[in-house]
Amino acid sequence: MTAGQHNTVWLTGLSGAGKTTVALALMQALKAQGRAVAVLDGDQLRHGLNRDLGFTPEDRHENIRRTAEVARLMNVAGLTVIAAFISPYRADRATAAAIIGADHFIEVHVSTPLAVCEARDPKGLYGKARAGHLAQFTGISAPYEAPLAAALTLDTATLALEESVERLCRYLQQRL
Ligand code: ADX
Repeated sequence: MTAGQHNTVWLTGLSGAGKTTVALALMQALKAQGRAVAVLDGDQLRHGLNRDLGFTPEDRHENIRRTAEVARLMNVAGLTVIAAFISPYRADRATAAAIIGADHFIEVHVSTPLAVCEARDPKGLYGKARAGHLAQFTGISAPYEAPLAAALTLDTATLALEESVERLCRYLQQRL
């Protein structure tokens, strides 16, 4: 790690896997340790910075590229970043790692199985996708490429939220 530069914890996984929930809980835990933290969330950024983007592979690539550029700037400015994006393509996550710097990019797979995400269906999107009303929906009609070497893998179907946060905090502590 470069002295002084902060890290980006990059949460990847299906819609409904629990990325945002884990991101917000981790943010609280890190803030309690006195760290400056920012969360970047796919749903949130798609309302503003990335509002012109859809869900084609090209648009997802651009979504991840812009997000990684923002994360890098935040890291350099002294913030720990937690990014929660489906980011379904390995190549796009590799791009993010290259932009942020491989030493500062911590890939975490929120690996909650599709069946569980679909049963949760918090936004009703899986239902719409199964009914054919939502094209290119990740896990149903668009691919998800799981990480091959994630720093951590967290299945929120079997891990309590506190346990996921503890594992993340332990991992970050070890890296320092
Ligand atoms: S990513 O693939 O480009 O990384 P991102 O994390 O920003 O996706 O946004 C995913 C969110 O967009 C989902 O949680 C869901 O609320 C919404 N969404 C709408 N359409 C789709 C779709 N076709 N595939 C995946 N998510 C979608």
